[in-house]
Amino acid sequence: MSRFPLTRGVVDRFVAGEQTIDAVTATRRLADLGLMSTIDHLGEEVRDTGAAVETTKAYVRLLEALRPLGFGDKAEVSVKLSAVGQALDDAMALDHARQICEAARENGSTVTLDMEDHTTVDSTLAILHALRTDFPDTGVAIQSYLFRSEADCRDLRDTRVRLVKGAYKEPSSVAYQKKSEVDRAYVRCLRVLMSGSGYPMVATHDDRLIAIAETLADGRSDYEFQMLYGIRTDKQLALVRSGANVRVYVPYGDDWYGYFMRRLAERPANVAFFLRSLGGK
Ligand code: FDA
Repeated sequence: MSRFPLTRGVVDRFVAGEQTIDAVTATRRLADLGLMSTIDHLGEEVRDTGAAVETTKAYVRLLEALRPLGFGDKAEVSVKLSAVGQALDDAMALDHARQICEAARENGSTVTLDMEDHTTVDSTLAILHALRTDFPDTGVAIQSYLFRSEADCRDLRDTRVRLVKGAYKEPSSVAYQKKSEVDRAYVRCLRVLMSGSGYPMVATHDDRLIAIAETLADGRSDYEFQMLYGIRTDKQLALVRSGANVRVYVPYGDDWYGYFMRRLAERPANVAFFLRSLGGK
C-alpha cells in the first residue's frame, strides 16, 4: 500500500517482508540467534467486513505455516483488533480474535492484543477478558502514557501484559505528554506487574528502563524483554547473551504505512535514515 515512493530497503529495515513465507523466514533467523518472535500482520482500522475476514485468514495461514516448525510459544502473534473488525462491531472482532487464538493454541502458542488509540482501550480490555475465558494465556499491551494504565495494570496482575510507553498522539486530557512523566509512569506500572502473578513483557528499547526492570524482577525469571524488528538488534543479542528472554515484534505484509510512520515519529534519526535512502545514499 505505497502512498509515496519508497525504496524497498527503507521499509525492509522495519518490516520482514510482504508474504507469509517472509515472516516465517524472519522467525527462523531470529530463533537461530536465540530470539523469540511475536508476529504482526500489518494493517489497522479496517472499515469493511471483507478486509477483517482477510486479515483473520492471513493470521490463520501464518500460524499453519509455523506449525510444522514446532516453535511453540517461541513464535506467537500480535493482533490489532482494529484490523479484525473492532471499528465495525466488537462481537465480530471477538469472533475473529477467537479464530486466531484457536489456531495459535494448535501451535502450543498464544496471542497478544496490541493496544491502539485511547478510544479503543475499554473495548480491547473487554475482548481480552472474553478471550481469556477459553484462552487464559492471551496477553495485552498496556501503554504507560495513559493516566488509567497503572490501575489497568493492577487489574491485570495475573495476566500476560506487554508494557509499552505508547505510540499514538494522545490528548493531555488522557495521557502524559512529557517523556519524563511517561517514563516515570512506566516504572510505576512495571512495579505493579513485577509484583503480580502474571507474565510481564517489558517492551522498550530504553536502556534505563531495561536496567530498572532487571532490578525490579529481583531474581524472578518468568518475564521477557521485547523490542521491534530492526531496532537495537545489538541490544537484543546482548540481552540474550546475558540469559534474558527476548522476543522481537516482527511486522509483515503490505499495509506498512501506519506502522512505518509511527517508527519515524519516534526517532528523528529514523527520519534522517529515511531521507538519506530516498536520496539514494
Ligand atoms: P523511547 O522512544 O524513549 O526510546 C528509547 C531509546 O530507544 C532511544 O533513545 C533510542 O535509542 C531507541 N529507540 C526507540 N525507538 C526507536 C526507533 N523507532 N528506532 C531506533 N531506535 C529507537 N505502542 C502502542 O501504542 N501499542 C502497542 O501495542 C505497542 N506494541 C509494541 C510492541 C513492542 C514489542 C515494542 C517494542 C513497542 C510497541 N509499541 C506499542 C511502541 C511503543 O509504545 C513505543 O512507541 C516504542 O517502543 C518506543 O518507545 P521506547 O520504549 O523504545 O522508548
